[in-house]
Amino acid sequence: MDVLLIGYGAIGRTVLEKLGDGPGRIVAILEVPERVKAVRALVPSSIKVVGSTEDLASLPPLAAECAGHKAVATYCVGLLKRGIDVIVISAGSLSAPGLFDELKASARHGKAKLMLPAGAIPGADALAAARIGGLDYVRYTSRKPPMAWKGTPAETVVDLASVKERTVLFKGRADEASQLYPQNANVATTTALAGLGFDKTEVLLTADPAAKGNIHLIEAGGAFGEMRLEIAGKPLPNNPKTSSLAAYSLVRAIRNRCGNIEI
Ligand SMILES: NC(=O)c1ccc[n+]([C@@H]2O[C@H](COP(=O)([O-])OP(=O)(O)OC[C@H]3O[C@@H](n4cnc5c(N)ncnc54)[C@H](O)[C@@H]3O)[C@@H](O)[C@H]2O)c1
Repeated sequence: MDVLLIGYGAIGRTVLEKLGDGPGRIVAILEVPERVKAVRALVPSSIKVVGSTEDLASLPPLAAECAGHKAVATYCVGLLKRGIDVIVISAGSLSAPGLFDELKASARHGKAKLMLPAGAIPGADALAAARIGGLDYVRYTSRKPPMAWKGTPAETVVDLASVKERTVLFKGRADEASQLYPQNANVATTTALAGLGFDKTEVLLTADPAAKGNIHLIEAGGAFGEMRLEIAGKPLPNNPKTSSLAAYSLVRAIRNRCGNIEI
């Protein structure tokens, strides 16, 4: 199946590289107009590189977004309406009021499918299955070294430089966490959408001098039993803010959609 890749940054590069012979074949890349020339020079000549969907003679049946939150609103709504299936990796965008509902309505209108891979979190599949039996609680905890919270509203909560022990910076709803702390928005949003929703998913953002890197913990309990999944992800070489697992998760989603076996 032919695939349109939206965005050719750290995740886009990894997707093109790791997708290899598929299943799924990137036939076109949609980038911001000012990057089209640079991207053109980086990818095989068989791949079209465009700055607008209007520059494509026809649209492939599947689009894989890895361009950022703005691109989800700009392109994914229209693509779904036109019957193109869309995989969205910028999950945090769905915490913006109204956008998820608009995407769902567009998918219904176009008889298309919106897919949300697990991205950087562990166990989104387990959460979504556990929800069917009934979930009692879902909690997402982020643990990072204090200075990793620099440039976020955490600076108004504590003096990051003098944090000596684990300190809670934010405790509340998943959508509030996503809006206030965009760096954590993808994980908070995916956890909420897979499990108990924005209002019932508890989010704890903490600064911990003992944390070695960016650690995500997902805890949940319900009719299925209990789970506790922790991940210390490694970033992609081209973007220290992006977990490599997010890129692999997008490759997996493309393969699942395009191949004969889904796992
Ligand atoms: N779901 C998850 O767990 C998860 C984890 C990490 C990152 N992400 C998200 O994945 C997205 C991509 O991450 P990245 O590290 O590759 O970012 P990046 O900044 O390295 O690359 C983004 C690319 O998209 C392009 N782009 C921006 N706006 C565009 C538009 N309107 N149309 C077309 N192209 C556009 C940029 O020019 C850039 O080349 C981000 O939104 C990030 O939040 C999700």
